[in-house]
Amino acid sequence: MGSGGESLKNLKVPNVQELAATLDKTSEIPQRYIWPEAIANPVQSNISIDDLPIVDLGRLLDPALCQEESAKLEHACQEWGIFLVVNHGISKELLSKIKDDITEFFKLPLKEKEIFAQIPNNFQGYGQAFVASEKQKLVWADMLYLVSRPPTSRDMRFWPSKPPTFRESLDKFSCASKEIAISLLTLMSGILGVDPEAVLDKFKDEPQALKANYYPPCSEADKVLGVKSHTDTQAITVLLQVSDVQGLQVNKDGRWSSVHVPADDLVVFIGDALEILSNGKFKAMEHRVAVHNTKERISIAAFLSPTDTAIIGPLPELVRGSSEKYKSVSYADYRQAYIAARQAERSSLESMKSV
Ligand code: OGA
Ligand code: NI
Repeated sequence: MGSGGESLKNLKVPNVQELAATLDKTSEIPQRYIWPEAIANPVQSNISIDDLPIVDLGRLLDPALCQEESAKLEHACQEWGIFLVVNHGISKELLSKIKDDITEFFKLPLKEKEIFAQIPNNFQGYGQAFVASEKQKLVWADMLYLVSRPPTSRDMRFWPSKPPTFRESLDKFSCASKEIAISLLTLMSGILGVDPEAVLDKFKDEPQALKANYYPPCSEADKVLGVKSHTDTQAITVLLQVSDVQGLQVNKDGRWSSVHVPADDLVVFIGDALEILSNGKFKAMEHRVAVHNTKERISIAAFLSPTDTAIIGPLPELVRGSSEKYKSVSYADYRQAYIAARQAERSSLESMKSV
């Protein structure tokens, strides 16, 4: 999803938390929420904590330890496109505050949440995204989507004022997750062998969006999806799972596998923009979210994206002597194509490939 307020079509959809609360255990899930792709491609394996790459940010930022840790980061970016970040520097206090506030927000009565509802054809606020036709399937989730950086781009109409500390904790989480994403981007530039300044130049003002996801329980959990399979459009996603209810799944080598996210660790995804800038050296990981049959699941993602006017294409240093695997377009154009592709249920990354 892009960082802008978007003017593309975005239809209002029923509130899923309400829907889940009104369905009893024996009633059938409406057909629009049943995903044949979830039924046809069930999860096949678990990725164990020993297999998922883990990087220690404290070690990465320590000159004496950085080299060894960088090798892990390189492996994670090239072979996975998803990794856990430990020792990330976000305090326990802030983690528990943001988790509590998000949980409290979703507990509010619908009327109070709807004060911050999306307005027509805008992605910001409480609602759901990527629905442009009455025929489209619907995901089993509600979300709160906010443009969060640069701070001057915030539209406070959509920032919940309840619970009373929510705005402050969102602001702090936005800042902390941006710092982590910028540190990783700088380290990744080094791994690619390109000047970090040339990369950071594409991220002027450090645009960022936040998305809090609420996945109600579903009695037919294996037929619905909380988020359908996708890669994130931005460069780097930093994701915090709010409770210990798991649900994240990745498509690793053609098999859907569930990922166990330990409490208070962060999940990082490489997004399309970084795959393209790296000329395919780094991979954007395809992922989706399964919902639980009896428990709610909550998460918050912070997406760091390039500046709208930045040209997203393979970095010149990476294509000397080898071919460009992707076309070059402005990030704003790529984001529009991404949204259109998600609404049409296609991949925009595929259309960027040169041959
Ligand atoms: C997303 C996403 C994962 C999660 O919102 O793009 O992939 O665990 N969320 O909620
Ligand atoms: Ni995602």
